[in-house]
Amino acid sequence: MGVTDTTQQAFNRAQELKQFEESKLGVKGLVDYGLTSLPSLFVHPPETLSTLKPTRPRPDSIPTIDLSCCDSFQRPSVVAEVGRAAREVGFFQVINHGVPTEVLDRTIAVVKAFHEQPMEAKARIYRREMETGVAFFSNLDLLHSKAASWRDTLQIMLGPKLADVEEIPEVCRNEVLEWNQQVQRLGSLLLGLLSEGLGLSAGKLQELTCLENRVMVGHYYPYCPQPDLTVGLTSHTDPVVITLLLQDQIGGLQVKHGDEWVDVVPIPGALVVNIGDILQIMSNNEYKSVDHRVLANPSREPRVSIAVFCNPSDQENEYGPFPELVSSDKPAAFRQFTFSEYMRRFFTKELDGKSLINYYRA
Ligand code: OGA
Ligand code: NI
Repeated sequence: MGVTDTTQQAFNRAQELKQFEESKLGVKGLVDYGLTSLPSLFVHPPETLSTLKPTRPRPDSIPTIDLSCCDSFQRPSVVAEVGRAAREVGFFQVINHGVPTEVLDRTIAVVKAFHEQPMEAKARIYRREMETGVAFFSNLDLLHSKAASWRDTLQIMLGPKLADVEEIPEVCRNEVLEWNQQVQRLGSLLLGLLSEGLGLSAGKLQELTCLENRVMVGHYYPYCPQPDLTVGLTSHTDPVVITLLLQDQIGGLQVKHGDEWVDVVPIPGALVVNIGDILQIMSNNEYKSVDHRVLANPSREPRVSIAVFCNPSDQENEYGPFPELVSSDKPAAFRQFTFSEYMRRFFTKELDGKSLINYYRA
């Protein structure tokens, strides 16, 4: 291929990208128009596609932890389970977490309803700026990535400053506010268990404001007509302390465990918890922030998932490994940095799985 062909291809891609972005339709809009083959913008490179082979079922690789005994004499065994999952897998599911099933169901239902509104209602808030605290877009990294993914997202700022309530789409407003309450309660419980799992006091992570900066993303993965040519969400680690994820029963989320991709099989009533880069750093590599991805959805039924990313609200404070976890045997593996420095770097890169964490190694 000559230089001019390559230039021409880049030009065509840029045109396609601009058209897609300016249409404000999102991927669901394309599907609704009856599209049967993917625009080239969405076709991923062979290095990615060759890893999409079906996985061997490994039902026990993602631990399921029962939180019902957290307030009893059995708390130490729950702490041990959470600590082991965070060290060995970086992902776990929780059951008996205290969030009523009706709340889980209606939160999924209203996020689905948002994405299934008439296109004009969504186009009105299609944007990448977060001034109002609410945005609808397709692909967070659309403008930086080599290939786009088969997913649309509604993003809402939950804290420390809640989005303008009037801006939160009415179809999901009350439920999003309710979800915010539930996440704060459960998040506090989980941060307590994770702190204790490191041998620190239960309040340690929360005292560092790690639950105060909360962003919710309501993802919609429409039916994909060619699921072996693209993905729903590219492999990445979360640049956060922890992520709480509610998924419906469709499936498609996978986690890297050793050299293998394993499915996070949906369990009715469960929530998924994963360790982010910031907690890996704070724990001085005790806890693992691992690569995960979502396959393009081959099912006619759309997939909906809702993630809440929890981070420190104190953006200019310096974060790094806890001094309690640093010793001559285990020197600090990372340097100190501010959260605002970290996020600046995140937003100027592609979600590419090579986590930012490498940048901060000591
Ligand atoms: C994310 C994420 C998984 C999912 O939003 O960072 O990993 O199942 N989502 O949507
Ligand atoms: Ni993620």
